[in-house]
Amino acid sequence: MSDVHTRPIPAKFAANALIGAEDYEKMYRQSVQDPEAFWAQQAKDFLQWEKSFTQVLEEDMHRGHTAWFADGQLNVTVNCIDRHLASRSEQTVILWEGDDPADSVAITYRTLYDNVCRLANLLKSRGVKKGDRVCIYMPMIPEAAYAMLACARIGAVHSVVFGGFSPVSLRDRILDSDCRLVITADEAIRGGKHIPLKANVDQALSECPSVHTAIVVKHIGAPVDWDSKRDIWYADAIAEMDGDCAPEVVSAEDPLFILYTSGSTGKPKGVLHTTAGYLLMATMTFKYVFDYREGEVFWCTADVGWITGHSYIVYGPLAAGATTLMFEGVPTYPDASRFWQVVDKHQVNSFYTAPTAIRALMGAGDAFVTSTERSSLRLLGTVGEPINPEAWEWYYKVVGDERCPIVDTWWQTETGAHMITPLPGAMALKPGSATKPFFGVQPVLLDGDGKEIEGAGEGALAIKKSWPSMIRGVYGDRQRMIDTYFSTYPGYYFTGDGARRDADGYYWITGRIDDVLNVSGHRLGTAEIESALVLHPDTAEAAVVGYPHDIKGQGIYAFVTLKSGREPSEALRQALIELCSKEIGPIAKPDVIQWAPGLPKTRSGKIMRRILRKIACNELDNLGDTSTLADPAVVDDLLAHRENR
Ligand code: PRX
Repeated sequence: MSDVHTRPIPAKFAANALIGAEDYEKMYRQSVQDPEAFWAQQAKDFLQWEKSFTQVLEEDMHRGHTAWFADGQLNVTVNCIDRHLASRSEQTVILWEGDDPADSVAITYRTLYDNVCRLANLLKSRGVKKGDRVCIYMPMIPEAAYAMLACARIGAVHSVVFGGFSPVSLRDRILDSDCRLVITADEAIRGGKHIPLKANVDQALSECPSVHTAIVVKHIGAPVDWDSKRDIWYADAIAEMDGDCAPEVVSAEDPLFILYTSGSTGKPKGVLHTTAGYLLMATMTFKYVFDYREGEVFWCTADVGWITGHSYIVYGPLAAGATTLMFEGVPTYPDASRFWQVVDKHQVNSFYTAPTAIRALMGAGDAFVTSTERSSLRLLGTVGEPINPEAWEWYYKVVGDERCPIVDTWWQTETGAHMITPLPGAMALKPGSATKPFFGVQPVLLDGDGKEIEGAGEGALAIKKSWPSMIRGVYGDRQRMIDTYFSTYPGYYFTGDGARRDADGYYWITGRIDDVLNVSGHRLGTAEIESALVLHPDTAEAAVVGYPHDIKGQGIYAFVTLKSGREPSEALRQALIELCSKEIGPIAKPDVIQWAPGLPKTRSGKIMRRILRKIACNELDNLGDTSTLADPAVVDDLLAHRENR
């Protein structure tokens, strides 16, 4: 790609940025030449320690092992709340904007402290101790943040499950990490649509006998079923609790949270993050990537059920003493102007969203944007999937009035924080490129033989050295972590993504090169969707691949083979789509189902996904070598019966 669209650093940013071009070069060099000295300094500057560390790094990338600041001790909530009380107890920490534009609330650091302590005391009173896992299944309301922080207050480990996941997914996650307590709400509401969270919890818990407590926030006031032995109303219970709770001082490497994410095989993995390294990188990237200034309002539109919400709605902003906006609704309700109206209403300075939302809003027309002022905006960001240059330009010109740099941040649940990202005052932008590595991050591109590619080129994206917020484990299955991330290219962390590096050293993420889909910025394993499809009694076999989708980035294309004697029908198609929704959640509904009398397989019975991918993507000129197929005629049938997308 040519550099014709390169956007120089805006003069205003260059003059005032926290990190300028020379700072970046100098600090990056230090961070890779002497990582221990660099990170030790950052850890002292950014975090408050109860006991200072003397060790900095222990690492064995072949075993996927890393430990940072291991003999140090701290508490996350002291860093996110207590240390701010002296100077900003009356400052707004959470600006909550409800689904209904008439609903908004400003929560101060003092109120946050009180709520977190009360809930922490409630958890303790229900027997939750350091190291215990707590499941959080919540709408986007301040209590979701209170719940995460209340766990951190007492050293419990939270596992937030996205409120859009089905009861089956919720049950699996509760069981996998053996949570004994669930925090939820009666209902969520998004775009005027109600989501019955408590009913979903009831259903999930019918198969989770170890869960003894469900704490329920009355958010909507909807009627719910009640198990008086197990269920507690949140408001009543915390009213009885003390508003102070001494923080549990934990070790730097004690676990902070588990977050489930999809991989190319099997069920979702519980990615484990620990305390100090995670908090350090969430805070530092928050401050430098968003060039955050005291008093600014920061808005990340993700859900707290994803890593983006963990790091950039809750932990990063709070540790930095910021004001974070939490939005319950959707970009198109009541209309496609909602984001920009909220920006004006709350005078948002930095706005961080996913390319899929940008593409959807771009399709709705410029008037929804231009009817608003957006004069408070200083910086824009994107996350979750590659952004096409067309959407980038629209975001830059129409939303940002060519005034706001766009930080295209590449990272993952497993990386905990931004890895390849612009620092807005330090580097010129190229639309579609995540630009350069953050401090301490050493990306490499590997060729088919696992050798590092020098200079410009394209290959598998891997990371050479550990960084403080690197994944520490897959909950309950250490070997799975090593197999997934540290075995493909021994000695490296393998990201699952492909990337290109241009002559200027800029990285361009090309997307997943494993069997993981990225649908509207949400990660889904093809294996998970296939497992759901084969649960239907009429299904013999299923294979799922992604294809390019204008709005979602990738759509879900399922090839389904029915058992002999079963006939395809519209009703069956709908039943299969519903099954995916029930087993995983609405985000997993296939966009296309093609009835496949047979699937292309090698003689040893392996499905040749490469061919299915080409059929789904309409790349029919070059199907590649089909001579090794057990039955090449299968492909002709699939080609003849392709579905419209
Ligand atoms: O494929 C990459 C894509 O999202 C994947 C990580 O998904 P998840 O763990 O759910 O975290 C999403 C939010 C951090 C990556 O492997 N991805 C994320 N950010 C970008 C991206 N692809 C291209 N550009 C990005 N900025």
